[in-house]
Amino acid sequence: MLKQLKELKSSALKELEAVSQAKDLEAWRVRYLGKKSQLTNILRGLAKLPIEERKQVGALANQIKSGLEENLEQKSQLLKQAKIAAVGEGIDITLPGRPFPTGRLHPLTQTVTEICDIFVSMGFQVVEGPEVEWDYYNFEALNITRHHPARDSMATLWVDAESENGQRNMLLRTHTTAVDTRVMEQMPPPIRVVMPGKVYRYEASDVTHVPMFHQIDGLAVDKNITMADLKGTLYEFARRFFGEDRKVRFRCDYFPFVEPGVEMAIECLVCGGTGCRLCGNSGWIEVLGAGMTHPRVLERSGIDPREYTSFAFGMGIDRLPMLRYGIDDIRLLYGSDLRFLRQF
Ligand code: DAH
Repeated sequence: MLKQLKELKSSALKELEAVSQAKDLEAWRVRYLGKKSQLTNILRGLAKLPIEERKQVGALANQIKSGLEENLEQKSQLLKQAKIAAVGEGIDITLPGRPFPTGRLHPLTQTVTEICDIFVSMGFQVVEGPEVEWDYYNFEALNITRHHPARDSMATLWVDAESENGQRNMLLRTHTTAVDTRVMEQMPPPIRVVMPGKVYRYEASDVTHVPMFHQIDGLAVDKNITMADLKGTLYEFARRFFGEDRKVRFRCDYFPFVEPGVEMAIECLVCGGTGCRLCGNSGWIEVLGAGMTHPRVLERSGIDPREYTSFAFGMGIDRLPMLRYGIDDIRLLYGSDLRFLRQF
């Protein structure tokens, strides 16, 4: 029986040597260490042996059993490592990763965010108003009465049908200045707000026009606000947005809701002031309208113009990335062409 055990051990070890796969290893375990294996049978039959033989056979059988168990464990580890090594051979971990496409913010969104950040850092708050607006907020409250010629400069998209007296009251706002009165009605002074958003005009598209574009208006209402505050604020904005050294010019202009009204221009970004096609040979590019809020506008919004004064400004946003990046057709901004948009 001792001889039988020794033979068993050597054939088990020999077979184990040849095992190269996990499933063969399991078969090997069943055959040599399983419940029905020869070794288990011998161990079970020990009780029937005479005492002397029982001692010898028992000792050897147990020794072989634990030896084989140890070999099994070692082999199992070896197979695992071989498997990892084999996979590793197929992967070059030094290869750079494959980039996957990520989205990004539209250049207009980037511009609005940048402008808002500048004004927020000066103490302004960002607020929004509705795009479908009443005639009252878009025109009437801003001193643009029914037959005011300023209405002609803002071809309006009306939302409601004409009433019997030929009037319409609901429209798509033509400028973000429409939010001014809404803010003043709801917020007690001091007020410092900027109001970005979409505006609409009934116009055919071409390289400089689209029927929907973007504006941002600003409004400050407080005691003792003066033209100097207006200029200081807008100079600071221009310095931060267009660069430290960009020259800025203010000139008189007319808007029904401010008095006095001004227009702000910056030195042309292309020619630097000598005159070119972009600036129409003037050397200057107009970027915004502004002024001291008209006392009647304050009054209508429930603010006493004898106690408070106010400045306001408004500008188109679309032209800014166009100037900055040399985009020569505004429609590109609204075309959703990723080849164009990915550049920003
Ligand atoms: N709303 C004017 C426009 O669309 C721009 C403007 C001019 C806004 C003067 C203002 C302002 O707030 O004070 O052309």
